[in-house]
Amino acid sequence: MNSFIDIKRRKFLQYAGIGTATMALAPNWLWAEASPKNNAYLFSNPDVEIGMTAQVTEIPILSGPPTEVWKFSAKLLNGPEGTVEEIPGSYLGPILRLRKGQKVRIHFHNNVPGPCVVHQHGLHVPEKSDGHPHYAIDSGQTYSYDFQVLNRAGTYWYHSHTHRVTGHRVYFGLAGLLLVSDEEERALNLPGGDYEIPLVIQDRQFGNRNELHYVHGMHDRMTGFLGDQILVNGFPDFELPVATRAYRLRILNGSNSRIYKLAWSDGTPMTVIASDGGLLEKPERYPYVTLAPAERVELWVDFSGRKVGSEIKLQSLPFSGATPRMGGGMGRGHGRGRHGHGSSALPNGAGFSIMKVRIVRKEEVNQKLPERLSTIRSHQIQEAENPDHPRTIRLSMRPHSPRLNGRSFRMTAVADEEVFKLNSLQLMEFVNRDRRARGMMMAHPMHIHGQPFQIVKREVLPGFQQDYATLSEGFISSGWRDTVLVMPGEKVTLLKPFEDYEGLFLYHCHNTEHEDLDMMRNFQVRA
Ligand code: C2O
Ligand code: CU
Repeated sequence: MNSFIDIKRRKFLQYAGIGTATMALAPNWLWAEASPKNNAYLFSNPDVEIGMTAQVTEIPILSGPPTEVWKFSAKLLNGPEGTVEEIPGSYLGPILRLRKGQKVRIHFHNNVPGPCVVHQHGLHVPEKSDGHPHYAIDSGQTYSYDFQVLNRAGTYWYHSHTHRVTGHRVYFGLAGLLLVSDEEERALNLPGGDYEIPLVIQDRQFGNRNELHYVHGMHDRMTGFLGDQILVNGFPDFELPVATRAYRLRILNGSNSRIYKLAWSDGTPMTVIASDGGLLEKPERYPYVTLAPAERVELWVDFSGRKVGSEIKLQSLPFSGATPRMGGGMGRGHGRGRHGHGSSALPNGAGFSIMKVRIVRKEEVNQKLPERLSTIRSHQIQEAENPDHPRTIRLSMRPHSPRLNGRSFRMTAVADEEVFKLNSLQLMEFVNRDRRARGMMMAHPMHIHGQPFQIVKREVLPGFQQDYATLSEGFISSGWRDTVLVMPGEKVTLLKPFEDYEGLFLYHCHNTEHEDLDMMRNFQVRA
């Protein structure tokens, strides 16, 4: 006979998209983690207080019946105006706007089945407010996250980070943007209001009752899930009406595993003003921008000189040339352009339109792109605590198990090499080479929690061709980042500071299906 816990577990696993075959294998500690937690209170008087819930609801996305989604809702309880903006009609959580220096408290109430936790992606916050799955709360419980905004102005986001179901939760909607501003950014007077457009790009797959379809088996998990329909801010066939003037587009790749090669349809270069960790020193131009899951990019685009009534598309270019396996074709040759595993008619690497921009209005006043945006102190290898001994993280794939240095995630486990000294700068490298499983190598968008890092260099490893050239011209390596796409046969060297907070934090692949297959580890910051 089923005990209560078994029923609860089955229900949870069903929501998690995990079939009955694996149910018996679900470890008990998965449940042990969802016990009541002490709030992460830091201050008695926060500057901003937000009430947030996660709940299952229905939203019309396509024509016909509404779609069941999981959604964050939030309300400003206290603090300056305009901090919480709902996107009407979207399954995405509201856009939270914060300022650098603010003391923030988020009261999170979990109203979805099973445990849930909220991670502020890209923000540098204390362990208890970082959304580590260890701090997940069970359905019906409330937990308060306290943190001070230490980050520079930038486009950040928040999403569920519940153990083994991050992909499922984010896919069904548990994500939203978190925009930080600061003095430096405000002084630039960049296009704001109606001229500042947040864009969250995601791919989804719908069944014939408009229900969302998620992973269909281990193959989808190993490649990462790919939808066949592109949504922007939660809407299909997204159109953006604009005036003949300059705009600031703040783009998040909120997809589970899809990599985009963003470009304007008429060949206009992409003018990049910011990446994950905020403004670049000066605008940079790219033929296209490669944007992996969880990465952000901010574009400046000037529509002045265009005719009212004309249109331009933001598209994803096909990955041409000897593109390595990007997912959607893993283990089946290159797999591009065919229905690799029956779940996606739109493989990673296909070309398609993301949204249409329609010029609808003439406007005489315009703004000029600043020549300088910010000052970034670029760190040197010699400043690192370990200039001659980088911490190496090897990315590898075993059947059913992508790994980091040969290890899988354990809730609180930390290896010796995963301990970092508080207030140090560390030289680190991601190495994507797998001698034992070369045929299974994939591109991995690697994310490190805590402070952002600087990319020192990207190198093709000996014995590999530069076969990723088709994507690499679109890599943004300047500025501060928290996620970096590491291509098969590539080594990426970076410098990362570990300041302010001791504690247990995560690093992982942000292909969320890989993350849920435990391609994730803890690191410990210790004085
Ligand atoms: Cu956006 Cu640990 O994740
Ligand atoms: Cu991965």
